Amino acid sequence: MRVYFDYNATTPVTPEVTQAVLEATNESFGNPSSVHHFGQRAKAALDEARSALAALIHADPSEVVFTSGGTESDNFALRGAVDALAPIGRRQLVASAIEHEAVLNTLKALARRGWRITLIPVDATGIVDPERLKTLVTSETALVSVMHANNEIGTIQPISELAAVAHEHGALMHTDAVQSVGKIPVDVHALGVDLLSLSAHKFNGPKGVGVLWIRRGTRMQPTMTGGKHERNRRAGTENVSAIAGLGVAARLATAKLDAEAARVAGLRDRLEAGVLAAVPGTAVNGARDRRVPNTTHISFDRVEAESLLIALDLEGIAVSTGSACSSGTLEPSHVLRAMGLPTHRTQNSLRFSLGLFSTEAEVDHVITVLPRLVEKLRGLTKKTTSVSVP
Ligand SMILES: Cc1ncc(COP(=O)(O)O)c(C=O)c1O
Repeated sequence: MRVYFDYNATTPVTPEVTQAVLEATNESFGNPSSVHHFGQRAKAALDEARSALAALIHADPSEVVFTSGGTESDNFALRGAVDALAPIGRRQLVASAIEHEAVLNTLKALARRGWRITLIPVDATGIVDPERLKTLVTSETALVSVMHANNEIGTIQPISELAAVAHEHGALMHTDAVQSVGKIPVDVHALGVDLLSLSAHKFNGPKGVGVLWIRRGTRMQPTMTGGKHERNRRAGTENVSAIAGLGVAARLATAKLDAEAARVAGLRDRLEAGVLAAVPGTAVNGARDRRVPNTTHISFDRVEAESLLIALDLEGIAVSTGSACSSGTLEPSHVLRAMGLPTHRTQNSLRFSLGLFSTEAEVDHVITVLPRLVEKLRGLTKKTTSVSVP
């Protein structure tokens, strides 16, 4: 049995999405900017997808800008806003310490251009406190960026409260909703944001396509310059095939959202309870009552996460660590560090993220296999320790 519990990394596409991508590739091949029949057919495919996506996030289709994915949307949000706001003297950007690299590394690049960057800490459960934001935002703040749901631990941030603080000081509010769209209800107006990033491959759509939602009237400079595509906001001929796939994925997500959220939460809770009961020395990281329904992040005492990940992979089970391996050294996750977890917990934790095709049989299989692997690895650690410490 092969089990894929790494839906936060990416998701499998549904047969309907594959079909839509194929059809658009073959039949809507015209350039959507062309005036003739072929162009208008491709434009109709874009319009259809734009409406479907707008419905998923309760937005107006005219505010939807197609991009090449979550990374570009985050770059566009930050760089487009700062380019528009620099002339009015706002030189500070505020973001949470647990943002995705697409935001954090863009901020680093902007810091090199002279922008003042302030990171908001999170509490031990991975949540940003709006009261803390109040102490950091000033009349010089151009933009506040806080992710809706975290990709590692799944925690959901109080975006509408944070947006209210940003707006009190005249700053724009951006949220990276890449990990929440398609998993929980997302309503751009209820969130109160000005800019929202999302990515199709996190909700059973194709890779390399996403959206930046821009509230009408928001001052933004395009970061991709060229033709007049996407109402002058993002130049370049649209990826019609992938966008058609995104549209179908959005329709599916809208139709199934509540039922799927409940089903997947049931599976995740079964997995979590099963693992905690079957494996001693385990604990869940992050707020358990404020997270997306598909994610659990569990630490395993006296186990190296990478070793457990590989052992699971050899058994056909795909999960993820929160860590990124850079230049041969294992970097502890910046998310777990920001939560103040002790070093050993930043190195012994695994993320299990479920989704549309996950089943109870898969969950039960993992609960059966995992205790044996953990026991084996703990046995090895004991032996190594007894050799090195005579
Ligand atoms: C929170 C978050 N933001 C941004 C991204 C980047 O999205 P993409 O892979 O579409 O560039 C990801 C992907 O892992 C993510 O989880």
